[in-house]
Amino acid sequence: MPGEIVFWLAAVFPPEEGATPGPTALPLEQGSTLLDAQETDCLTRLRHHEDRRSYLAAHAGARLILGHVVGRPPSALRFGASANGKPVLLLNPQEIDFSLSHARGAVAVAAAHMPIGVDVEPMREMDQLDSVSELVLAAEEQAVLRKASKASRSRLFLRYWTLKEALLKAAGLGFAAPPNEVIIDAGPIPTVLSVPPALGSAAQWHLIAPSDT
Ligand SMILES: CC(C)(COP(=O)(O)OP(=O)(O)OC[C@H]1O[C@@H](n2cnc3c(N)ncnc32)[C@H](O)[C@@H]1OP(=O)(O)O)[C@@H](O)C(=O)NCCC(=O)NCCS
Repeated sequence: MPGEIVFWLAAVFPPEEGATPGPTALPLEQGSTLLDAQETDCLTRLRHHEDRRSYLAAHAGARLILGHVVGRPPSALRFGASANGKPVLLLNPQEIDFSLSHARGAVAVAAAHMPIGVDVEPMREMDQLDSVSELVLAAEEQAVLRKASKASRSRLFLRYWTLKEALLKAAGLGFAAPPNEVIIDAGPIPTVLSVPPALGSAAQWHLIAPSDT
């Protein structure tokens, strides 16, 4: 596994009446038996059933993947968190880092022998794009967004957002660090151009994203 990234992206949908889940489907009830008390408590506090489904899928998925990678039962894995909330796998001599993300309808998990971050966001039309852009995008990125066709602006903005959030999650900061201080080229082969000093040099951070979104 050194140098490899294990990546899992899954759609989360309600079971159709009478439909038998396919071979790769994980019945969520089964997934809930894997969670620890803290996760189960967080799960029960989520009010919307879609958020509960995604939370469950992401945490059960993370346990199944990490259990496979480190060779331990998924329900036996223990987690801690960094000062800023980044989850860490305890009793982890292989020093596996992981990241999870859950949005309504989709979840993602990534694991690797290096700092890793992943983010999924539902594709949607963004309101107040100009004001949100100032918080998330650097001036040169805002200029790129302004040049984009009106129809593609929300999609491009969400591409910037997910790439930056994944990087800031890999760094363990999340949005405790201002995303508009991270400057990226969000083109087909996304590249990190500049990062705040706390993240070291831009060259040490690499981005992976589907080329068409
Ligand atoms: C990390 C963060 C960007 C996630 O935002 P989001 O888009 O709502 O959620 P996602 O589904 O993509 O990711 C959530 C997961 O990120 C992880 N996460 C939380 N804080 C994190 C951090 N600082 N770094 C990396 N990952 C983090 C957790 O696994 C979390 O899952 P959980 O809430 O189900 O346990 C946001 O929670 C954040 O910015 N957190 C830290 C900011 C902060 O201010 N922390 C200081 C006080 S604790």
